Amino acid sequence: MGKGNLHFLTVWIILAQILATFSSTTTAVYDNSTVTPTPVPTWMLDYTGIVSKFSLRTAEEPDDDLCYIVPGEPETIKECEFNPETQTFVIIHGWTVTGMFESWVPKLVSALYNREPSANVIVVDWLSRANQHYPTSAAYTKLVGVDVAKFVNWIQNELQLPWDKIHLLGYSLGAHVAGIAGDLTQRQISRITGLDPAGPTFEHADNENILSPGDAQFVDVLHTNTRGSPDRSIGIQRSVGHIDIYPNGGTFQPGCDIQNTLMGIASAGIKGLQNMDQLVKCSHERSIHLFIDSLVNEDQQSMVYSCKTQDTFNKGLCLSCRKNRCNKLGYNVNKVRSPRSTKMYLKTRDMMPYKVFHYQVKMHFFSEKKLSFTEQPLMISLFGTYGEKENIPFQMPTLVGNTTVSFLLTTDTDIGDLMIVKLRWEKDTIFSWSDLWGRSKFHIRKLRVKSGETQSRVIFKSKDGEFAFLVRGGEDTVFVKSKEDNMNRKEKLMHKLKMHGTLFSQNEA
Ligand SMILES: *[C@@H]1O[C@H](CO)[C@@H](O)[C@H](O)[C@H]1NC(C)=O
Ligand SMILES: *[C@@H]1O[C@H](CO)[C@@H](O)[C@H](O)[C@H]1NC(C)=O
Repeated sequence: MGKGNLHFLTVWIILAQILATFSSTTTAVYDNSTVTPTPVPTWMLDYTGIVSKFSLRTAEEPDDDLCYIVPGEPETIKECEFNPETQTFVIIHGWTVTGMFESWVPKLVSALYNREPSANVIVVDWLSRANQHYPTSAAYTKLVGVDVAKFVNWIQNELQLPWDKIHLLGYSLGAHVAGIAGDLTQRQISRITGLDPAGPTFEHADNENILSPGDAQFVDVLHTNTRGSPDRSIGIQRSVGHIDIYPNGGTFQPGCDIQNTLMGIASAGIKGLQNMDQLVKCSHERSIHLFIDSLVNEDQQSMVYSCKTQDTFNKGLCLSCRKNRCNKLGYNVNKVRSPRSTKMYLKTRDMMPYKVFHYQVKMHFFSEKKLSFTEQPLMISLFGTYGEKENIPFQMPTLVGNTTVSFLLTTDTDIGDLMIVKLRWEKDTIFSWSDLWGRSKFHIRKLRVKSGETQSRVIFKSKDGEFAFLVRGGEDTVFVKSKEDNMNRKEKLMHKLKMHGTLFSQNEA
């Protein structure tokens, strides 16, 4: 498209936004639309320029576009058997290299119908504009946003749909389309879910050009591929919703490494070559599959935890559920809106169901001699009332005498209430001077474990004697659930005093 067109477009968008601001002010005054219809700006009623198509997909044929609902043609609503009594999902795709719908689209359609069988699942087709040079497609999000806003406004007015039953789901560039649409609709739509909103050209853009918390009553966002410099990261790095979730730190997703992806491509043969861009998209698209997981695996709901940074989360310090600090990932999210966006974290498995169980493990390493190690391989085994998880490898960043360490440990199986913890300190291949002077050994008096999923806290003590010994290259150190758990507050306080009075330093985190 020409430069002149772009200027015209910009002017037009600005005009549209001024009008939208005007209309939303009016909305605030006449909040009851059934009593006083809010005046709709005339440009919103002009359906002639709409290029995007709106297909009402069915649960039976989630792959096919069998019926389009056309703004301005009310008969198409009936023809497509749109159900005005229920909620409506609008799925918006992103940039496309092939110009075709990607395979996740029918998967998401099916998952939505699986969960809400009577719902309307509409897929927005803006493939022709999404199949351009990336910057061109990125610029088109404004026009597509206008299309979607017109469609939503129109169908809402035609059927008097409740605004609280409209949920837009946008992937990549589609997330910004949803944001722009939500900004322009006559009244605020209920929810927008941003699935790894696109980063390039949007990271530093103004709120009205990207997905932002003001675009819906509730905006939840999954960030799954935010690697590289802010301008080049495929996914947007900054938070753009009420709740912004960064699975596995948001940078890169498990199972998306080159080796795994290449193996998948190789086994698919020639057909696999066409999937070459899966390598790039794996982490990006994970956002969608995490959402699908929340729809279809309701009994394996992933939990997310509010935290300032991924580093703090990795120390296991953010597993609290007090004051809405934890939430559910995906469809079942508890719609908590704080004035500032809340960053939330979790770890996941590398395949569906993605849920893992999070534990904070905290212990004090006591040593007589001066000992200091970095990057030490530990093996941790957890035994619970339902099952066990043995030999979870853990790389301990630092292992220093007379310090307290806290870290995050995850298991992919539910082992129930923890009963026994075993630690083993593996010998790495690097030569260590301390080995020369005898075996490297730490004393551990107790181990504290907090579960994110159950919020329980359990103290573990050495199976035999006051101290457990962790020996480099040695046997498993066994800790059992302590009876201390049942102590009353006073006893605990006395115990703490006693502890600090003797062996333990005061710097426990
Ligand atoms: C809005 O209008 C409906 C129908 O006239 C009425 O029942 C309802 O009480 C009104 N709500 C408010 C908040 O005024
Ligand atoms: C650790 O602390 C204990 C006393 O709490 C002390 O005896 C021991 O020497 C300390 N070890 C080091 C390496 O400072």
